[in-house]
Amino acid sequence: MSTLITGIGELTTNDPELGRLTDAALVFTDRVEWVGSAASAPAADERVDVEGRAVLPGWVDSHTHLVFAGDRTTEFEARMAGTSYTAGGIAVTVDATRAASDRDLVDNVRRLVREAVAQGTTTIETKTGYGLNVADEVRSARIAAQEVDEVTFLGAHLIPPGADADDYVSLVIGEMLDAVAPHVRWADVFCEQGAFDADQSRAVLEAAAAKGLGLRVHGNQLGEGPGVRLAVELGAASVDHCTYLSAADIDALANSSTVATLLPACDLSTRQSLPPARQLLDAGATVALASNCNPGSSYTTSMAYCITTAVLQMHMTIEEAVTAATLNGAKALQTDKVGHLSPGARADLHILDAPSATHLAYRPGVPLTYAVWRAGVRQR
Ligand code: NIG
Repeated sequence: MSTLITGIGELTTNDPELGRLTDAALVFTDRVEWVGSAASAPAADERVDVEGRAVLPGWVDSHTHLVFAGDRTTEFEARMAGTSYTAGGIAVTVDATRAASDRDLVDNVRRLVREAVAQGTTTIETKTGYGLNVADEVRSARIAAQEVDEVTFLGAHLIPPGADADDYVSLVIGEMLDAVAPHVRWADVFCEQGAFDADQSRAVLEAAAAKGLGLRVHGNQLGEGPGVRLAVELGAASVDHCTYLSAADIDALANSSTVATLLPACDLSTRQSLPPARQLLDAGATVALASNCNPGSSYTTSMAYCITTAVLQMHMTIEEAVTAATLNGAKALQTDKVGHLSPGARADLHILDAPSATHLAYRPGVPLTYAVWRAGVRQR
Protein backbone atom coordinates (compact mmCIF):
# COMPACT_ATOMS: atom_id res chain seq x y z
CA MET A 1 0.00 0.00 0.00
CA SER A 2 1.52 3.32 -1.08
CA THR A 3 0.37 6.81 -0.14
CA LEU A 4 0.92 10.01 -2.09
CA ILE A 5 0.91 13.21 -0.05
CA THR A 6 0.10 16.21 -2.23
CA GLY A 7 -0.41 19.89 -1.56
CA ILE A 8 2.62 20.18 0.73
CA GLY A 9 3.24 23.88 1.45
CA GLU A 10 6.70 23.30 2.91
CA LEU A 11 8.53 19.99 3.10
CA THR A 12 11.50 19.70 5.47
CA THR A 13 13.41 16.65 4.27
CA ASN A 14 16.72 17.07 6.17
CA ASP A 15 18.24 15.53 3.05
CA PRO A 16 21.44 17.39 2.12
CA GLU A 17 20.48 17.46 -1.55
CA LEU A 18 16.69 17.87 -1.36
CA GLY A 19 16.71 20.41 1.50
CA ARG A 20 13.47 22.26 2.12
CA LEU A 21 10.94 22.11 -0.72
CA THR A 22 7.80 24.09 -1.48
CA ASP A 23 4.86 22.92 -3.59
CA ALA A 24 6.13 19.36 -3.01
CA ALA A 25 4.78 15.81 -2.95
CA LEU A 26 5.97 12.63 -1.27
CA VAL A 27 5.16 8.94 -1.74
CA PHE A 28 5.62 6.41 1.03
CA THR A 29 4.94 2.83 2.01
CA ASP A 30 6.56 1.92 5.32
CA ARG A 31 9.57 3.80 3.88
CA VAL A 32 9.78 7.04 1.96
CA GLU A 33 9.67 6.01 -1.72
CA TRP A 34 9.78 9.27 -3.62
CA VAL A 35 10.13 13.01 -2.90
CA GLY A 36 9.89 15.84 -5.42
CA SER A 37 7.86 18.60 -6.95
CA ALA A 38 4.08 18.27 -6.97
CA ALA A 39 4.04 18.53 -10.78
CA SER A 40 6.03 15.32 -11.25
CA ALA A 41 4.47 13.17 -8.53
CA PRO A 42 3.95 9.51 -9.46
CA ALA A 43 0.69 7.66 -8.80
CA ALA A 44 0.07 5.72 -5.57
CA ASP A 45 -2.66 3.52 -4.06
CA GLU A 46 -3.98 6.35 -1.91
CA ARG A 47 -3.74 10.13 -2.15
CA VAL A 48 -3.91 12.62 0.74
CA ASP A 49 -4.05 16.34 -0.02
CA VAL A 50 -2.64 18.31 2.93
CA GLU A 51 -3.82 21.62 1.46
CA GLY A 52 -0.70 23.72 1.87
CA ARG A 53 0.38 22.42 5.27
CA ALA A 54 3.98 21.89 6.36
CA VAL A 55 5.41 18.35 6.46
CA LEU A 56 8.37 17.42 8.66
CA PRO A 57 10.08 14.22 9.76
CA GLY A 58 8.57 12.98 13.04
CA TRP A 59 10.33 14.21 16.16
CA VAL A 60 13.16 12.04 17.48
CA ASP A 61 13.03 12.32 21.26
CA SER A 62 16.44 10.98 22.22
CA HIS A 63 16.23 11.48 25.99
CA THR A 64 13.32 10.41 28.22
CA HIS A 65 12.78 8.51 31.48
CA LEU A 66 9.35 6.95 30.99
CA VAL A 67 9.52 3.84 33.20
CA PHE A 68 8.33 5.21 36.50
CA ALA A 69 5.43 5.37 38.90
CA GLY A 70 4.20 8.17 41.12
CA ASP A 71 4.10 11.91 40.90
CA ARG A 72 6.28 14.74 42.21
CA THR A 73 3.86 17.65 42.10
CA THR A 74 4.76 18.62 45.66
CA GLU A 75 8.45 18.82 44.78
CA PHE A 76 7.59 20.93 41.74
CA GLU A 77 5.47 23.28 43.84
CA ALA A 78 8.29 23.66 46.36
CA ARG A 79 10.69 24.43 43.53
CA MET A 80 8.40 27.11 42.14
CA ALA A 81 8.40 28.56 45.65
CA GLY A 82 12.20 28.74 45.69
CA THR A 83 13.54 25.32 46.75
CA SER A 84 16.48 24.20 44.58
CA TYR A 85 16.35 21.08 42.42
CA THR A 86 18.75 18.35 43.52
CA ALA A 87 19.23 14.79 42.30
CA GLY A 88 17.77 13.62 45.65
CA GLY A 89 14.19 13.67 44.36
CA ILE A 90 15.01 10.68 42.16
CA ALA A 91 14.77 8.50 45.29
CA VAL A 92 11.07 9.39 45.67
CA THR A 93 10.37 8.00 42.21
CA VAL A 94 12.53 4.95 42.91
CA ASP A 95 10.34 4.04 45.91
CA ALA A 96 7.14 4.46 43.89
CA THR A 97 8.54 2.51 40.93
CA ARG A 98 9.70 -0.42 43.01
CA ALA A 99 6.25 -0.60 44.60
CA ALA A 100 4.38 -0.52 41.27
CA SER A 101 3.15 -3.57 39.37
CA ASP A 102 4.45 -4.41 35.89
CA ARG A 103 0.99 -3.52 34.56
CA ASP A 104 1.11 -0.05 36.11
CA LEU A 105 4.58 0.61 34.71
CA VAL A 106 3.60 -0.56 31.23
CA ASP A 107 0.42 1.52 31.31
CA ASN A 108 2.36 4.59 32.33
CA VAL A 109 4.91 4.18 29.52
CA ARG A 110 2.10 3.64 27.01
CA ARG A 111 0.22 6.71 28.23
CA LEU A 112 3.29 8.88 27.71
CA VAL A 113 4.19 7.31 24.37
CA ARG A 114 0.62 7.95 23.15
CA GLU A 115 0.85 11.53 24.36
CA ALA A 116 4.18 12.01 22.57
CA VAL A 117 3.04 10.41 19.30
CA ALA A 118 -0.09 12.59 19.26
CA GLN A 119 2.29 15.57 19.21
CA GLY A 120 4.43 14.30 16.34
CA THR A 121 7.08 12.20 18.09
CA THR A 122 7.83 9.01 16.16
CA THR A 123 11.10 7.82 17.73
CA ILE A 124 11.61 7.59 21.49
CA GLU A 125 14.60 6.65 23.60
CA THR A 126 13.94 5.86 27.24
CA LYS A 127 16.07 4.94 30.23
CA THR A 128 15.96 2.71 33.26
CA GLY A 129 17.13 4.42 36.44
CA TYR A 130 14.19 4.34 38.83
CA GLY A 131 14.84 0.73 39.90
CA LEU A 132 18.39 0.94 41.25
CA ASN A 133 18.52 -2.72 42.22
CA VAL A 134 19.09 -5.66 39.91
CA ALA A 135 15.50 -6.90 39.76
CA ASP A 136 13.91 -3.47 39.24
CA GLU A 137 16.49 -2.29 36.71
CA VAL A 138 15.98 -5.47 34.66
CA ARG A 139 12.21 -5.05 34.93
CA SER A 140 12.45 -1.43 33.74
CA ALA A 141 14.71 -2.38 30.83
CA ARG A 142 12.42 -5.22 29.78
CA ILE A 143 9.34 -3.01 29.83
CA ALA A 144 11.11 -0.20 28.00
CA ALA A 145 12.37 -2.59 25.31
CA GLN A 146 8.79 -3.69 24.67
CA GLU A 147 7.45 -0.16 24.31
CA VAL A 148 10.02 2.17 22.71
CA ASP A 149 12.64 2.28 19.97
CA GLU A 150 15.83 2.68 22.02
CA VAL A 151 16.61 1.70 25.61
CA THR A 152 19.37 2.96 27.88
CA PHE A 153 20.61 1.40 31.12
CA LEU A 154 20.85 4.10 33.79
CA GLY A 155 21.54 2.05 36.91
CA ALA A 156 24.02 4.85 37.68
CA HIS A 157 21.27 7.42 38.17
CA LEU A 158 21.69 7.90 41.91
CA ILE A 159 23.48 6.11 44.72
CA PRO A 160 20.45 4.71 46.54
CA PRO A 161 20.01 6.39 49.94
CA GLY A 162 21.83 4.34 52.59
CA ALA A 163 23.97 2.43 50.07
CA ASP A 164 27.75 2.56 50.12
CA ALA A 165 28.94 4.35 46.97
CA ASP A 166 31.74 1.91 46.10
CA ASP A 167 29.53 -1.11 46.72
CA TYR A 168 26.81 0.37 44.56
CA VAL A 169 29.17 1.15 41.67
CA SER A 170 30.49 -2.43 41.88
CA LEU A 171 26.93 -3.72 41.69
CA VAL A 172 26.12 -1.51 38.69
CA ILE A 173 29.20 -2.54 36.71
CA GLY A 174 28.93 -6.19 37.72
CA GLU A 175 25.74 -8.11 38.35
CA MET A 176 23.35 -5.33 37.30
CA LEU A 177 25.08 -4.63 33.99
CA ASP A 178 25.23 -8.36 33.19
CA ALA A 179 21.51 -8.75 33.86
CA VAL A 180 20.34 -5.62 32.04
CA ALA A 181 22.66 -5.68 29.01
CA PRO A 182 20.58 -8.13 26.92
CA HIS A 183 17.65 -5.67 26.99
CA VAL A 184 19.44 -2.43 26.11
CA ARG A 185 21.61 -0.82 23.46
CA TRP A 186 22.98 2.05 25.56
CA ALA A 187 24.38 2.83 28.99
CA ASP A 188 24.34 6.18 30.73
CA VAL A 189 25.61 7.73 33.96
CA PHE A 190 24.50 10.82 35.85
CA CYS A 191 27.89 12.48 36.27
CA GLU A 192 27.10 15.32 38.66
CA GLN A 193 27.69 16.48 42.20
CA GLY A 194 25.24 14.52 44.35
CA ALA A 195 25.21 11.61 41.88
CA PHE A 196 28.39 10.00 40.39
CA ASP A 197 31.84 11.62 40.36
CA ALA A 198 34.31 11.44 37.47
CA ASP A 199 36.00 8.20 38.61
CA GLN A 200 32.75 6.43 39.33
CA SER A 201 31.29 7.61 36.02
CA ARG A 202 34.35 6.45 34.12
CA ALA A 203 34.12 3.02 35.77
CA VAL A 204 30.46 2.68 34.75
CA LEU A 205 31.06 3.83 31.17
CA GLU A 206 34.15 1.68 30.64
CA ALA A 207 32.37 -1.41 31.96
CA ALA A 208 29.39 -0.75 29.70
CA ALA A 209 31.62 -0.19 26.67
CA ALA A 210 33.43 -3.46 27.41
CA LYS A 211 30.00 -5.13 27.32
CA GLY A 212 29.41 -3.69 23.84
CA LEU A 213 26.94 -0.99 24.86
CA GLY A 214 26.95 2.49 23.32
CA LEU A 215 27.55 5.33 25.75
CA ARG A 216 25.54 8.37 26.79
CA VAL A 217 26.22 10.73 29.70
CA HIS A 218 24.08 13.07 31.81
CA GLY A 219 26.57 15.89 32.26
CA ASN A 220 26.89 19.53 33.30
CA GLN A 221 23.24 19.79 34.37
CA LEU A 222 23.53 21.61 37.67
CA GLY A 223 26.99 23.12 37.31
CA GLU A 224 30.22 22.81 35.36
CA GLY A 225 31.84 19.43 35.91
CA PRO A 226 33.65 16.53 34.28
CA GLY A 227 30.66 15.05 32.39
CA VAL A 228 31.25 16.62 28.99
CA ARG A 229 35.00 15.97 29.03
CA LEU A 230 34.47 12.34 29.98
CA ALA A 231 31.78 11.83 27.34
CA VAL A 232 34.00 13.23 24.61
CA GLU A 233 37.07 11.30 25.78
CA LEU A 234 35.16 8.00 25.79
CA GLY A 235 33.44 8.69 22.48
CA ALA A 236 29.90 8.76 23.90
CA ALA A 237 27.12 9.17 21.33
CA SER A 238 25.74 12.10 23.31
CA VAL A 239 26.17 14.14 26.44
CA ASP A 240 22.85 15.37 27.66
CA HIS A 241 21.89 18.56 29.54
CA CYS A 242 25.04 20.66 28.81
CA THR A 243 23.50 23.50 30.77
CA TYR A 244 26.74 24.79 32.30
CA LEU A 245 29.68 24.60 29.88
CA SER A 246 33.17 26.05 30.03
CA ALA A 247 34.85 27.33 26.86
CA ALA A 248 36.93 24.13 26.91
CA ASP A 249 33.74 21.99 27.05
CA ILE A 250 32.32 23.80 24.02
CA ASP A 251 35.58 23.39 22.17
CA ALA A 252 35.76 19.69 23.05
CA LEU A 253 32.20 19.11 21.80
CA ALA A 254 32.84 21.06 18.61
CA ASN A 255 35.84 18.86 17.85
CA SER A 256 34.11 15.57 18.56
CA SER A 257 31.35 13.38 17.20
CA THR A 258 29.55 13.50 20.57
CA VAL A 259 26.16 15.18 20.20
CA ALA A 260 25.30 17.90 22.74
CA THR A 261 21.69 17.10 23.64
CA LEU A 262 19.95 20.08 25.20
CA LEU A 263 16.90 19.65 27.44
CA PRO A 264 15.41 23.13 27.80
CA ALA A 265 12.11 21.99 29.33
CA CYS A 266 14.14 20.53 32.19
CA ASP A 267 16.17 23.69 32.66
CA LEU A 268 13.00 25.77 32.88
CA SER A 269 11.28 23.33 35.24
CA THR A 270 14.31 23.24 37.54
CA ARG A 271 14.93 26.99 37.35
CA GLN A 272 18.38 26.64 35.83
CA SER A 273 19.88 28.80 33.11
CA LEU A 274 19.19 27.75 29.54
CA PRO A 275 22.11 26.02 27.80
CA PRO A 276 24.49 28.01 25.57
CA ALA A 277 23.04 26.69 22.32
CA ARG A 278 24.26 29.58 20.21
CA GLN A 279 27.87 29.18 21.35
CA LEU A 280 27.71 25.43 20.70
CA LEU A 281 26.31 25.90 17.22
CA ASP A 282 28.67 28.73 16.33
CA ALA A 283 31.61 26.60 17.46
CA GLY A 284 30.44 23.77 15.19
CA ALA A 285 29.02 21.28 17.74
CA THR A 286 26.13 19.01 16.78
CA VAL A 287 23.14 20.01 18.91
CA ALA A 288 20.04 17.89 19.57
CA LEU A 289 16.90 18.81 21.49
CA ALA A 290 14.95 16.31 23.61
CA SER A 291 12.10 16.45 26.11
CA ASN A 292 13.75 14.61 29.06
CA CYS A 293 10.24 13.55 30.02
CA ASN A 294 10.38 12.34 33.66
CA PRO A 295 8.27 13.00 36.75
CA GLY A 296 10.89 15.11 38.53
CA SER A 297 12.78 17.60 36.44
CA SER A 298 10.81 17.77 33.17
CA TYR A 299 7.29 16.36 33.08
CA THR A 300 6.54 17.01 29.43
CA THR A 301 6.49 15.00 26.22
CA SER A 302 6.27 18.13 24.08
CA MET A 303 9.09 18.47 21.58
CA ALA A 304 7.28 21.53 20.18
CA TYR A 305 7.71 23.23 23.54
CA CYS A 306 11.46 22.50 23.41
CA ILE A 307 11.66 23.94 19.89
CA THR A 308 9.70 27.04 20.83
CA THR A 309 12.00 27.62 23.81
CA ALA A 310 15.10 26.96 21.72
CA VAL A 311 14.04 29.58 19.19
CA LEU A 312 12.53 32.23 21.45
CA GLN A 313 14.96 31.98 24.34
CA MET A 314 18.10 30.16 23.17
CA HIS A 315 18.48 32.02 19.89
CA MET A 316 18.45 28.95 17.67
CA THR A 317 16.93 29.49 14.23
CA ILE A 318 13.80 27.52 13.42
CA GLU A 319 15.79 25.42 11.01
CA GLU A 320 18.45 24.66 13.65
CA ALA A 321 15.80 23.77 16.22
CA VAL A 322 13.86 21.49 13.85
CA THR A 323 17.10 19.79 12.78
CA ALA A 324 18.03 19.37 16.45
CA ALA A 325 14.68 17.71 17.20
CA THR A 326 14.82 15.37 14.20
CA LEU A 327 18.07 14.64 12.36
CA ASN A 328 20.36 15.40 15.29
CA GLY A 329 18.22 13.38 17.69
CA ALA A 330 18.78 10.49 15.28
CA LYS A 331 22.52 11.24 15.30
CA ALA A 332 22.46 11.12 19.10
CA LEU A 333 20.96 7.63 18.72
CA GLN A 334 23.39 6.76 15.93
CA THR A 335 20.69 5.79 13.47
CA ASP A 336 20.27 7.00 9.90
CA LYS A 337 16.83 5.43 9.45
CA VAL A 338 14.83 8.27 11.04
CA GLY A 339 15.01 12.03 11.45
CA HIS A 340 14.90 12.75 7.71
CA LEU A 341 12.65 12.14 4.72
CA SER A 342 15.10 11.00 2.07
CA PRO A 343 13.96 8.03 -0.03
CA GLY A 344 14.61 4.89 2.02
CA ALA A 345 14.03 6.53 5.42
CA ARG A 346 11.32 5.13 7.69
CA ALA A 347 8.07 6.85 6.75
CA ASP A 348 7.72 8.97 9.90
CA LEU A 349 5.80 12.08 8.89
CA HIS A 350 4.54 14.95 10.98
CA ILE A 351 2.03 17.26 9.29
CA LEU A 352 1.53 20.64 10.94
CA ASP A 353 -1.73 22.55 10.82
CA ALA A 354 0.34 25.49 9.58
CA PRO A 355 2.01 26.45 6.31
CA SER A 356 5.56 26.36 7.66
CA ALA A 357 7.69 25.07 10.52
CA THR A 358 8.23 28.68 11.58
CA HIS A 359 4.76 28.55 13.14
CA LEU A 360 6.18 26.27 15.87
CA ALA A 361 7.79 29.38 17.38
CA TYR A 362 5.55 32.04 15.84
CA ARG A 363 2.48 30.44 17.50
CA PRO A 364 3.93 29.31 20.85
CA GLY A 365 1.83 26.93 22.90
CA VAL A 366 -0.66 26.23 20.12
CA PRO A 367 -1.03 22.49 19.37
CA LEU A 368 -0.08 22.38 15.69
CA THR A 369 0.05 18.63 15.00
CA TYR A 370 -2.43 17.82 12.23
CA ALA A 371 -1.44 14.26 11.28
CA VAL A 372 1.28 11.73 12.10
CA TRP A 373 2.46 8.60 10.29
CA ARG A 374 5.00 6.23 11.83
CA ALA A 375 6.59 3.63 9.55
CA GLY A 376 3.79 4.41 7.10
CA VAL A 377 0.99 3.76 9.62
CA ARG A 378 -1.29 6.66 10.47
CA GLN A 379 -1.19 7.46 14.19
CA ARG A 380 -3.54 10.44 14.21
O1 NIG B 1 17.68 13.99 33.32
N1 NIG B 1 19.46 14.25 35.84
C1 NIG B 1 19.11 13.16 36.12
N2 NIG B 1 17.98 12.53 35.74
C2 NIG B 1 16.78 13.18 35.32
C3 NIG B 1 15.99 13.68 36.47
C4 NIG B 1 15.35 12.64 37.18
C5 NIG B 1 14.46 13.06 38.31
O2 NIG B 1 14.57 14.15 38.91
O3 NIG B 1 13.64 12.19 38.58
C6 NIG B 1 17.12 14.30 34.37
O4 NIG B 1 16.83 15.46 34.63
